[in-house]
Amino acid sequence: MAELSRRGLLTGGVAAGVVALARPAAAQAAAETVVPFHGPRQAGIATEPQAHAVFVAFDLREDTDKDALARMMRLLTDDARRLTQGRPALADTEPELASPAARLTVTFGFGPGLYARIKAPSPVKVLPKFSVDKLDKKWTGGDLLVQICADDPLTVAHALRMIVKDARSFATVRWTQRGFRRAAGTQSAGQTQRNVMGQMDGTGNPKPGTPEFDLAVWRPDGTTQLVVRRIKAELETWDAADVVAKEFTIGRKLSTGAPLTGTKETDAPDFAAKGAHGFPVISEYAHIRRAHVGDPSLRILRRVYNYDEGVTSQGHADSGLIFASYQADIERQFTPIQKQLAEADLLNEWITPIGSAVFAIPKGCDEKGWIGQEVLS
Ligand code: HEM
Repeated sequence: MAELSRRGLLTGGVAAGVVALARPAAAQAAAETVVPFHGPRQAGIATEPQAHAVFVAFDLREDTDKDALARMMRLLTDDARRLTQGRPALADTEPELASPAARLTVTFGFGPGLYARIKAPSPVKVLPKFSVDKLDKKWTGGDLLVQICADDPLTVAHALRMIVKDARSFATVRWTQRGFRRAAGTQSAGQTQRNVMGQMDGTGNPKPGTPEFDLAVWRPDGTTQLVVRRIKAELETWDAADVVAKEFTIGRKLSTGAPLTGTKETDAPDFAAKGAHGFPVISEYAHIRRAHVGDPSLRILRRVYNYDEGVTSQGHADSGLIFASYQADIERQFTPIQKQLAEADLLNEWITPIGSAVFAIPKGCDEKGWIGQEVLS
């Protein structure tokens, strides 16, 4: 492997998946790992979540018509394909920052406003208002979304800067949301991560590479749909709850992530199990019961990131989740789950959705194509 050059690896017909470049130290190899950009589906969805993310949403400028949108997406696609492979953007002002790629992915989404601009029916609709919502305009909506993820925060910052520069003459930035997970290499791959509330988060997700995943996430044409919700966590009051209350709220143990009816994280929750007093072990109002769906085609992929914007002068955290979920059909999959949760979920005591946006995710493209081509040309 050591004699293979980067170019050789990237152009040598390497099968889809992650390509690790040969380097003596494991850490360096991880930093220089590239995720293929080209393919029938966009990267950054089935990709094992990277440690850092920024979600940036844009509003189209008034004069950005269909032709301009096509020009913009050509530019954005071109720079995304360069940067994700560890190469500088076309007019890169800091080309030294393009490597390591650190598993960089750049994923594009189109909001309802983009389809309105080109007078085409939108595959996604703004979500209905849920009773728990306290949405702030500052974190809501957007015509174009770019999700940038990598295992290194400087790689993310550089890619964001290049992408925003490309988009600047076509669109203005509506919001940016930065999120993080465990740093790469601090826990073994595939191990479920913990969120800022301390819970193992992601256990119930469909697993990439399985038929259940494909059914839940992808449409036959390689597109999917994304919901991004900024959900604030009330960490001070959550900290005041004891372990029993916290576990009762979710329906899983904090230590192992196991359902209250099992011993291992992978044990299936037994929603019918009753305790000594005849009450369900997993409460009727526990988060995992309210969020659970039996039909595999109705499940969602939660690709969530933590956010933590520091503390107030009183020492209170501004922290929570950038809840990002991918599903083939938001209305059919996400909305019923969110309704169930809004109606009754013990977790509502400690979480508040303060931002919300929906995007259609176009299919992937090959070396000659660009993202959104089938929508914009
Ligand atoms: C800050 C907000 C949230 C927190 C802290 C949170 C936390 C959790 C935790 C700890 C679990 C159990 C482990 C797991 O399966 O991942 C879970 C499961 C789940 N959550 Fe959430 N969640 C939040 C918001 C949401 C929202 C907004 C939705 C969808 C509308 C959702 C849907 C689900 C689903 C579908 C499951 C899996 C249920 C199953 O076992 O089938 N969650 N969540």
